[in-house]
Amino acid sequence: MEAQVQAVKEEALASVEGAGPGRIKELRTLYLGRKGKVAALFREFKDLPPDERREAGRSLNELKSFLDSLFEEAAKEKKVEEKDRVDVTLPGRRPLIGGMHPVTSTIREICEIFLGLGYSVVEGPEVELDYYNFEALNIPRDHPARDMQDTFYVSPNVVLRTHTSPMQVRVMEKTKPPVRVVCPGRVYRRDSDPTHSPMFHQVEGLYVDENVSFAELKGTLIAFLKEIFGENVGVRFRPSFFPFTEPSAEVDIECVMCRGAGCGLCKDTGWLEILGSGMVNPRVFEMVGYDTARYRGFAFGLGVERIAMLKLGIDNIRLFFENDLRFLAQF
Ligand code: PHE
Repeated sequence: MEAQVQAVKEEALASVEGAGPGRIKELRTLYLGRKGKVAALFREFKDLPPDERREAGRSLNELKSFLDSLFEEAAKEKKVEEKDRVDVTLPGRRPLIGGMHPVTSTIREICEIFLGLGYSVVEGPEVELDYYNFEALNIPRDHPARDMQDTFYVSPNVVLRTHTSPMQVRVMEKTKPPVRVVCPGRVYRRDSDPTHSPMFHQVEGLYVDENVSFAELKGTLIAFLKEIFGENVGVRFRPSFFPFTEPSAEVDIECVMCRGAGCGLCKDTGWLEILGSGMVNPRVFEMVGYDTARYRGFAFGLGVERIAMLKLGIDNIRLFFENDLRFLAQF
């Protein structure tokens, strides 16, 4: 009897190895069921001579409880394995992938065009001295032009720059002509409505050399606007005023919505103001020690959000800064 018990035990141990949950259930019946192997041994047990029964009874009962826990443990292990297993038949979960912010991609697109025209990209401080933001740009204290740009003051002599034009001065202080730079960056004004944000982005451009003409200013800006808005875009130059350029011109493009017919976006004018520009005022050259008889230049400044809004058909500037993924994921 002892040998039979031992054999059943070993056989059972081997059979649960690698068995699935269904198979374990079957094995349980095969060994412990009413017509199972253990029951069969119990039937043989009845025929044993009385002096062997005691020993055999103990060993049979041990076998029964051993098999009981063997199948129970095996079933438990299976369940745990099942839970941790990767179900390769499930559809995959797409990981969230970041994209470029539309303001960043617009800045890159703008800079890329000017890189192609031989310009370099230079960046400078957002917290700026009054001197660079105003004084050196021919906007002295108490000049009415300071009202044009409602300023955030950090201290009496330090401001959050209201435009990227201070970079004109910083670049010229450090380099001799010829100068060809574009300067992207954040600027700040006390202004807030659907088309104005207290923080926005500009790209400044500056070109200085001998014999730079207004024709080159026009040619450069028209070429740039055609790259951005398409070959057929209408462009016009309007006389304007900036203390640091003379003469100055505001540049408009034909309205992207109505193509010049007049609509809400262009306030029925058919044109959209897109950038400020002009020939560098000799007073600015004097401030940086350039020879005004020898050098001439042109400068321009454009609003990045304005261009992005027109290109992408966005009507509220705040959308750029709320960082709502439902908005950002569209670009
Ligand atoms: N700095 C001007 C503005 O913010 C734009 C400008 C730049 C105009 C360079 C002329 C030349 O409105």
